[in-house]
Amino acid sequence: MKSINGKKIAAYLNEELKDKLKSFRIKENITPTLVVVLVGENPASNIYVKNKKIKADEVGINSVVKKLDSGVTEKQLLEIIDNYNKDNNVDGILVQLPLPSHINTEKIIDAISYEKDVDGFNSKNIGLLAQGRPYVVPCTPLGCLKLLKTEIELMGASALVIGRSNIVGRPMSYLLTNHHATVTLAHSKTQNLKQLCKRNDIIIAASGIPKMIKKDWVKDKAIIIDVGINQIVDEDNKKVLVGDVDYSNVFSKVKAITPVPGGVGPMTIHCLLENTLKLSMLRRNL
Ligand code: GUN
Repeated sequence: MKSINGKKIAAYLNEELKDKLKSFRIKENITPTLVVVLVGENPASNIYVKNKKIKADEVGINSVVKKLDSGVTEKQLLEIIDNYNKDNNVDGILVQLPLPSHINTEKIIDAISYEKDVDGFNSKNIGLLAQGRPYVVPCTPLGCLKLLKTEIELMGASALVIGRSNIVGRPMSYLLTNHHATVTLAHSKTQNLKQLCKRNDIIIAASGIPKMIKKDWVKDKAIIIDVGINQIVDEDNKKVLVGDVDYSNVFSKVKAITPVPGGVGPMTIHCLLENTLKLSMLRRNL
């Protein structure tokens, strides 16, 4: 039993990235630029975007937060993205999700040039990942992969991904497949989820159901990555953040598990920054 300290691992990787960015600046005279587009006033999105900007500044990436009113039209947003696509100084474009319901999210994501799609969400990048020839990999799955690799050899391991979202579950299943794990993708309609959990060496939990996974669901010495971030009211009537796994309940049985917070979250931000540098280099054939 062990807690996987994502915060510490991300801090170490961010230091390494800072050095890489410094060398890039000295050698090529380039500081990569990340544009984050934030539409409306979703409180969670505001916090995520603020954290992304703080970390970008810390490692030495230029970051621009483009704040737009929730009433912005799809056409206006498409024009804004097109201008960033054409701007040679912009290396990565991220449109924070969710978008207001009058905007077609897929259309917006696919309007981002695949070479600047720092989230790796557009259909070209997801297609390339699914074919096993990724260009840029979505940040949360990539962060989970890095954490897993500190604990287990993926080749031949059995992995259960719970949740089929385009942001986490689906790309995670492709990424693990590319790394030679044997992957099952479960979701809200899956039957006998508990039995499936018990059969797998690795569980990636992204169901969005607070503390769903209990001790009697998991295999002895399993590795668990908890992507869930759920705010609940605890026994003392206090608001707390919990994952999709009942952490204290499973802890004694598993080999390793990520805490919430301090597990996957900091790794997602690290991977976003790493992707920004990667795109900056690839676009210039460096
Ligand atoms: N909203 C929640 N997670 C993400 C993410 O990884 N990228 C973007 N763009 N929006 C999100």
